[in-house]
Amino acid sequence: MDPEIAEITVLPGKDKNGGTEHFERIVIRPGETLSIVGPTGSGKSALINDIELFASNDTVTGRTVLVNGTVPPEEIVRDPAKKPVALITQGTKCLADLAVREFLEMHVRSRKIVRKGIVEETIALANEFTGEKIAADARVASLSGGQTRSLMVADAVTIGNTPIIILDEIENAGIFRDRVIEVLKAYKKALVFVTHDPLVALMCDRRIVMCNGTVVRVIERCGEEDRALEAIRKMDGLLCALRERIRAGESITEAVFAV
Ligand SMILES: Nc1ncnc2c1ncn2[C@@H]1O[C@H](COP(=O)(O)OP(=O)(O)OP(=O)(O)O)[C@@H](O)[C@H]1O
Ligand SMILES: [Mg+2]
Repeated sequence: MDPEIAEITVLPGKDKNGGTEHFERIVIRPGETLSIVGPTGSGKSALINDIELFASNDTVTGRTVLVNGTVPPEEIVRDPAKKPVALITQGTKCLADLAVREFLEMHVRSRKIVRKGIVEETIALANEFTGEKIAADARVASLSGGQTRSLMVADAVTIGNTPIIILDEIENAGIFRDRVIEVLKAYKKALVFVTHDPLVALMCDRRIVMCNGTVVRVIERCGEEDRALEAIRKMDGLLCALRERIRAGESITEAVFAV
């Protein structure tokens, strides 16, 4: 993580009825993973937007987001090259009519990075997140949704060197979510996931539960949930294998479950 950013703090605002939120503060540090869960309309996207915008009582929720305990300088909030947050959603697309390599080289130049091999490193990293391999000479506009999101995450990690990465509901998007979590932890990124996926929710260190526009609980994974996570991993593995067989056009019989 950028040495200048040691922590992000979310301070409470108001729920949808204007009542004060009942949490003191939520602090996110490098290498931590946080999931945000809750029903439709409960304010999950509003919370990540607050983080992305570094809200200062100027959004619908009235929350304030601090960097290293203080209101961040204007340049961090407004200058895309300095902004420490990358938000990747289901709808994230690359519109440029460029090859993957050219697209990444352009980003490397704009960030004045001189290190050799960073483009290849980024493509290799993206290919750890997706089963459909990305070729350096493929056009970015022709990538699939899963390939695009994998490339965007890898680009934010390596070239953008963004300390905080937020993913809004990318579950069924052809991307290996568990791999993303493991890799981003290793790169010491702070990762925030909006998710309905049990595997992702339980793999994260903490889980924020939203309702009626407010944070109602923060659950830290420990003990029994650690054990449940192992069972969920197995189930998820089985479901992934089934998904692959369906994609390959195979018929599914009970024999699949006998493994
Ligand atoms: N604290 C709040 N005060 C006022 N309005 C809020 C608050 N939180 C969220 N809202 C508003 O409620 C609506 C639903 O919130 P949001 O889109 O964040 O829900 P969500 O949990 O992301 O839902 P979905 O699962 O459908 O994506 C939005 O219009 C949002 O601006
Ligand atoms: Mg949402």
